[in-house]
Amino acid sequence: MYTGENIGITVSDNGIAELTFDVQNSRVNIFNAQTVDELSRAIEFLESQSNIKGLLIGSAKAAFIAGADINEFAPIFSQGPDKILELLQKSNSNFNRIESLPFPVVAAINGFALGGGCEMVLACDYRMVSEDLRIGLPETRLGIIPGWGGTVRLPRIAGIETAVEWIASGKEYSATQALKVGVVDGVTSVNQLNSSAMDVLQQCIDNKLPYLSRRQQKQSPLRHNDIEKNMAFMTCKAMVGAQAGQHYPAPLTAVTVIEKAADLHRDKALLIESEAFVEMAQTQAALSLSGIFVNDQQLMKKAKQLAKEANSSISKAAVLGAGIMGGGVAYQSALKNIPIKLKDVQQAGLDLGLSEANKLLNKRVKRGRLDSENIGEVLNRIEPSLEYSGFDKVDIVVEAVVEKSEVKTAVLKEVEEKIHPEAILTSNTSTISIDFLAQSLQRPENFCGMHFFNPVHAMPLVEVIRGDKTSDNAIATTVAYAVALGKKAIVVKDCPGFLVNRVLFPYFAGFSLLLCDGVSFERIDKVMEKWGWPMGPAHLLDVVGLDTAVHASGVMADGFPERMPRENSSVIQALLDAQRLGQKNQKGFYDYGTDKKGKPTKTVSDEALEIIQLHRNDDNTEENRCSEEEIVFRMMIPMATELSRCLEENIVDNVAEADMALLYGLGFPPFRGGVFRWIDDIGIECFCSMAEQFQHLGESYRTTDTMKQLRNTGASYYSSSFTQSNDGGDLYVN
Ligand code: COA
Repeated sequence: MYTGENIGITVSDNGIAELTFDVQNSRVNIFNAQTVDELSRAIEFLESQSNIKGLLIGSAKAAFIAGADINEFAPIFSQGPDKILELLQKSNSNFNRIESLPFPVVAAINGFALGGGCEMVLACDYRMVSEDLRIGLPETRLGIIPGWGGTVRLPRIAGIETAVEWIASGKEYSATQALKVGVVDGVTSVNQLNSSAMDVLQQCIDNKLPYLSRRQQKQSPLRHNDIEKNMAFMTCKAMVGAQAGQHYPAPLTAVTVIEKAADLHRDKALLIESEAFVEMAQTQAALSLSGIFVNDQQLMKKAKQLAKEANSSISKAAVLGAGIMGGGVAYQSALKNIPIKLKDVQQAGLDLGLSEANKLLNKRVKRGRLDSENIGEVLNRIEPSLEYSGFDKVDIVVEAVVEKSEVKTAVLKEVEEKIHPEAILTSNTSTISIDFLAQSLQRPENFCGMHFFNPVHAMPLVEVIRGDKTSDNAIATTVAYAVALGKKAIVVKDCPGFLVNRVLFPYFAGFSLLLCDGVSFERIDKVMEKWGWPMGPAHLLDVVGLDTAVHASGVMADGFPERMPRENSSVIQALLDAQRLGQKNQKGFYDYGTDKKGKPTKTVSDEALEIIQLHRNDDNTEENRCSEEEIVFRMMIPMATELSRCLEENIVDNVAEADMALLYGLGFPPFRGGVFRWIDDIGIECFCSMAEQFQHLGESYRTTDTMKQLRNTGASYYSSSFTQSNDGGDLYVN
C-alpha cells in the first residue's frame, strides 16, 4: 500500500494494484508540482514490489485529470529554459517508467482527461473510458505544445492525421469520437468503468491482449511511406499555419515536431518535443493565454461567489425595449432557460425582436447546437407584451430602451411602480450615469447598470455598474443573472463610459489625431489588425455607428474635458454630417455592399477620403513619416493610460479584471493577454518612453501615477498589488 496526499495505491491479494488520483483542495485532479512528485514516489513503490501482476489507474473524483496546473505556468516559464526542462523531464520520466513497468497498465478514465491527463493515459497500455469522457490535448490553445509525450505517443497510437487534428486544434473529444479513431479502447457506463477496466487488465495479465507489442509500437519510429508522409505534412502545415496565424505559433510548431520526430525512437522524439516546448513556453502567446485561463478562473470564482450572496434566485426576468439589445437579452435569457417578458410600446418592435430570436435559434440548429424541435420551446420562454401585466412577478428587469436620458428616466420610473419592491431594476445604458438615472427612482438601492455588448448572444462581457446607492444585493442579483445567461460579469463603478467605453474613446481619439496628421484610415486599420485587433478602428467605428460614437464621445468629453476633446469639429462628426452613419446605412469610412455572389463587400469610400482630406492639419505627408510602431503606440497609449486611471480610481477592481473586460468586451487580441499584460511584456520603461515621445498630442499621452511608480521601482502590473483586489487603499506597488 502507498498513501500520498494526492495519490493512493492499494494492492489486492491477487496482485492487482490500483493507483487512484484524488488531488486535495481541488475540485478536479490536476498535475501540480506536488502531484508530479508524488507520482514519482508512487511509481518507485510499484517498481519495488515483486507481487504485482497488473496496475489499474483511476480517479476518486468525478473527473480523471484536467492536465498540468496552469497556475504554475507563469512562475515556471519565467525562470527560463532549465526550469522548464525540469518540469518536462519529471513527468516524461514518470510516464516512461509507467510504460516500462513489468506488468500491464490499464487506465479507467472518467470525466476529463485533458493535457497532461491525456498524455499520462497515452503512456498506459489500454484505455477504458466512461461515456461522459472529454479527452484532448488543449495545450496549443494555451500557446504551448504537449510537453509530456503527447506529440510522440498520439501519432504512434492513432496515426499522424488524428494526432495533427487533435493537437493543432486543441479540441476536446467525446468517448465515441476517441474510440472511433483508436485513441481509447472501450466505452462503458460510469458505473461499469472499473469492472470493465479490470476485465481488460485481467486479459492482459492472461496474455490474451498484446500489451507488450503496444508498448513496442509506442517506442518505435512511425511506420509510414516517405512520399506520402512528406505530402501529408506539407499540406497540413500550410493549413494549420494559415488557420492559427502568425501570432499563435504553437499549432504549427506542434505539427513540425510530429514531423521531425516521426522517424525517431520515443526517447529521441521526446527530446525534440521538449526543445520545442521550451521555445513555445517563452513566447508572449503562452504567457498571455495561460494568464487568461488564470484570470478567467478568478473572475468566474468571484462572480459565482457574488451570485451566491443574492437574497433570492432569478426565476423570471423582463426586458424593456425589443430593439437589437433588448431582443438579444430576451433571446439569451430564453436560451438559458430563464423565462422573460419582452415589453415594447409597438407591436412591430415585438415582432422584430421575436423574429431575430427565431433567426438566431435557426442558426444554432444549423450548427448542430440545438434540435429543431426545441426552437418552439425556447421561443415560448419569451413572453411578448405591450403592457406591464405580470411585471409584479419578475425578479429582475433590464431596461434597454432608446439611449436618451429623458426616455430612460421616464421608463425606469414607470416600471419601478409595476414591479415587486424586492425586484432588481437594471439599465443597459452605455453612456448615461447610473447615479443620474437613480435620482428619479424611489428605490435606488435596487438599481444598477447591466451593460451588455452587441451582439448580446456573441459577446461574453456584461459590465455590472454599481452606483453610489446600489446595494450589495442588487449587485449580487445582477451578477447572478449575468452568470445564469452564460456571461462574464465584471463589476465596475459608475463613471462616464463605465470601464470599456471609457477606455475605447481615448483610443478613437488617438485614431482621429492620426487621421488629421494625414495617416490613411485604411493603413491604420491594417496596422491595428496586424497587431491583433479583430478589426481596425475605422471599421470598428463603422460597426458601432458614427452617430453613436459622436454621442458617446460627447458624454466622455463632458466627463473628462481635459483628456477627451469634443468631437464636434472632428473627422467623425464631418462624416456624420455627410450622412455617413457606418454599417447601419452602408456608408461610413468604408462603403458596404454585396458582390455578385451575394457576399458582403467593404471598400474604402472616396467620399470619406475627401472629407478626411479637408480635416488634415495641413497637407503634410506625416503618413510617410509615421512608422507602424508609431501608429500602434499613438493608438494604444491613450487606451492604456485611461485604463490605468480606472484602476487608480477603483472603477475596476484589479489588473486581471481590467484586462479581461477588454478581451471579452472589445475582442482585445488574446495572445497579448490584455493592455496591462501587453505593457508588462514590452516593459514599463519602453511604454513610458514612447508616451513621452507623444506627450505633445495631449493629456491622454501622459503616463499615470501608477505607471511612474512602476517605472521607478522596475515592477510590472501583474507583479504589483493591483493584481489583487483593490481595497481602495493607498497606491502601493510591491
Ligand atoms: N490547472 C489549474 N487549475 C485547473 C485546471 C488546470 N489545468 N483545470 C481545472 N482547474 C481548476 C479550476 O481553476 C477550478 O478551480 P476552483 O475549484 O478553485 O474554482 C476547478 O479546477 C474546476 O474547474 P472549472 O473550470 O470551474 O470546472 P468546469 O467543470 O467548468 O471545467 C475543465 C473543467 C477541466 C474543462 C476546465 O477547468 C478546463 O478547461 N481546464 C483546463 C484544462 C486544460 O487546458 N488542461 C491542459 C493544461 S496543459
